[in-house]
Amino acid sequence: MFRLTDLKYPVIQGSMGIGFSWFDLVVAVSKAGGLGTLTTVCIDRLVAWETGDKSYKNNWEKSIEYAVDKLRGMLGDIPFGFNIMEKQTKSSEIIELAFKYKVPSITVGAGFNRRHFKLAEQGDPNHDLNFMYMINGIKAAQITILASKRKNNRVPDALILEGPKAGGHNGFRTIREVNAGENSLEGCFEPCRKILHESGVGIVIAGGIWGPEDWKYWKEKGADCLQAGTAFLGSQEANLDPEVRERLYTLKEEDIITSDAEIMQPGSPTKFAFKVFSDSPGYLRAQKLERPVKCSMSGILKSDNSCAAHKLDKSNFCICPPLTRSSGFGEKFQGDTEQFLMTCGSNGYKIRELATVLNDDGQSVPYEAKRVVDWFSGVHNKSPEAEAVN
Ligand SMILES: Cc1cc2nc3c(=O)[nH]c(=O)nc-3n(C[C@H](O)[C@H](O)[C@H](O)COP(=O)(O)O)c2cc1C
Repeated sequence: MFRLTDLKYPVIQGSMGIGFSWFDLVVAVSKAGGLGTLTTVCIDRLVAWETGDKSYKNNWEKSIEYAVDKLRGMLGDIPFGFNIMEKQTKSSEIIELAFKYKVPSITVGAGFNRRHFKLAEQGDPNHDLNFMYMINGIKAAQITILASKRKNNRVPDALILEGPKAGGHNGFRTIREVNAGENSLEGCFEPCRKILHESGVGIVIAGGIWGPEDWKYWKEKGADCLQAGTAFLGSQEANLDPEVRERLYTLKEEDIITSDAEIMQPGSPTKFAFKVFSDSPGYLRAQKLERPVKCSMSGILKSDNSCAAHKLDKSNFCICPPLTRSSGFGEKFQGDTEQFLMTCGSNGYKIRELATVLNDDGQSVPYEAKRVVDWFSGVHNKSPEAEAVN
């Protein structure tokens, strides 16, 4: 049985879809003593592309089995995680499969579905696996604890409190909510920590956590673990298109904006606020309504097989193919037909500092995921900022 407290370092690499937190990153982080998390958004398509075997497409069980076998082959008994976004296609089925194949750690993010609480009990009757939900504040913490107790005999091992500086989708609908003081980590950490710890549930802090000082601060406030995405996104193991990787290293603070379906239309069809590079060509094209309505991925279908971006209007834009264009699969499979859309957290402009660390001989130190784990956990005393060449 694996619990977060078994980790050598209290560092979770947050899942990054579509296709960014793929095998190399997950394995590097888990081997370094943190917890690597594989994204399962469109996993059937991604495995089909990786293997060249089209029979994986729409075959969720075969794809999950492939991923688990591959990770076990690379990691042996070292734990790893799977992430399922509530809004992704077949989320419930993938949660059930993750239990069936005994994925050591399962995180469920981007929304609630009461069915998931029941699934946790049915899929893991002996409570052998580490199971965590992502939450955005006190209300979500209360609902999750209450519903878990009522629907099954277990509370989650930990909840991941993700604040509005996080990359990817934020757990808020509008830019107003993203910017509201009470939704900041500072605004909601302590009440969340209190209710979780009183119920014997751990608290993981996420969204804009940057480096050992930041982690020390939250640890002293009572956080049990941290989750980061953006700091790992620039690492050499992240599965990125080369052009997007270069762009990451030159980002300025003002290049990272929040899109939503209310004010900054168009927004993500998930209806959640979504951080984007303001100049990513896929985003600019969507803003001008220039991208024809077409989807080759179907990553966020509802149960009636519809996606809000399947019709061309001002409120939603299609995100799955242009996001995947930014991944290491992008050029090979989508070529020039798709233009990249990219996301990262509010700290993305600091990735450059992590990318330009020199050793004592003046040689650049590879930007490996292991270095990010070591940095967060304070293994190296010198911070990359102090060493950075700007
Ligand atoms: C490129 C990118 C893609 C992401 N995709 C997902 C996802 O598919 N599912 C999810 O639950 N979180 C996703 N996230 C959020 C991360 O798992 C993590 O919680 C977040 O990045 C933490 O905040 P930080 O970006 O400030 O480090 C994504 C983040 C990034 C940067």
